[in-house]
Amino acid sequence: MAELVRTRRELSRLLGAAPRDQGVGLVPTMGALHAGHLALVAAARAQQEVVVCSIFVNPLQFDDPDDLARYPVDLDGDVAKAAGAGATICFAPSVDELYPGGCPPQVSVDPGPLGDVLEGAARPGHLRGVATVVAKLFALVAPTRAYFGEKDYQQLVVVRRMALDLSLPVEVVGCPTVREPDGLALSSRNVRLSPAERRAAPVLYRALQAGAAAAEAGERRRCELEAAMAAVVGAEPLARLEYAAARLEADLEEVDTLEGRVRLLVAARVGSTRLIDNLGVAC
Ligand code: PAJ
Repeated sequence: MAELVRTRRELSRLLGAAPRDQGVGLVPTMGALHAGHLALVAAARAQQEVVVCSIFVNPLQFDDPDDLARYPVDLDGDVAKAAGAGATICFAPSVDELYPGGCPPQVSVDPGPLGDVLEGAARPGHLRGVATVVAKLFALVAPTRAYFGEKDYQQLVVVRRMALDLSLPVEVVGCPTVREPDGLALSSRNVRLSPAERRAAPVLYRALQAGAAAAEAGERRRCELEAAMAAVVGAEPLARLEYAAARLEADLEEVDTLEGRVRLLVAARVGSTRLIDNLGVAC
């Protein structure tokens, strides 16, 4: 059974008493746990005996107050699921506990140029909010490794870059996206889809596959790959495309002719629910 702690003090007491010879794994989440989150917990547990799963709906990273207010919460269910997947500690602080100086904090982490493109452009302040809360969790848990899903690929790149640029002593581990059988990436927001929207939602994955097929057929022009993905989303009446992008995988740099490892990324609204997905391909 995982121990549930609500305060920084209890967390540090538990971590102080825990065996640290294999290090500590950290899986940051906002709760409403599904198989995608649990795959991260299992990956952490395979490498460490002590696994902290944090459960905190971070107000700082929500640009839309409605999205924050509607975010699903099920702490008891989450603790049971995290424990089942191998978490030993669940850290679920209140906003006051995690932001003792007030939220928003006066000092925050600048995600750099990556904070202004793609998700950063669509959701101003979002990646600053993510980088800031992740830096705080790193400070409180002092993990050996921290696990993030490729599902939020830009977030993974920003966190890696933050660890590098701020010399944070943690290994950032990326884990593959867990999908439904029809390709839809698991997301806590999928529960908001109506039955018709749920049937339409795999269009994001189909768009990525169309981009991947074009890349496999030898297409290297960024614009053409992006157009191939946009056309698929455009053909679905319930979906409204926000962006379809092809970028260099390592740093999401935008180049006209792609070569090497590439990430295809899409964001679209299906009904009123905003969904994102991405896929790695070789060009
Ligand atoms: P959340 O959306 O709860 O996701 C927590 C972690 O689970 C992230 O690393 C995310 O990429 C990963 N994840 C979500 N869906 C996944 C899927 N289908 N397959 C694999 N991994 C998946 O991302 C956040 O919370 C927050 O921004 C956080 C990092 C916790 C900071 O507040």
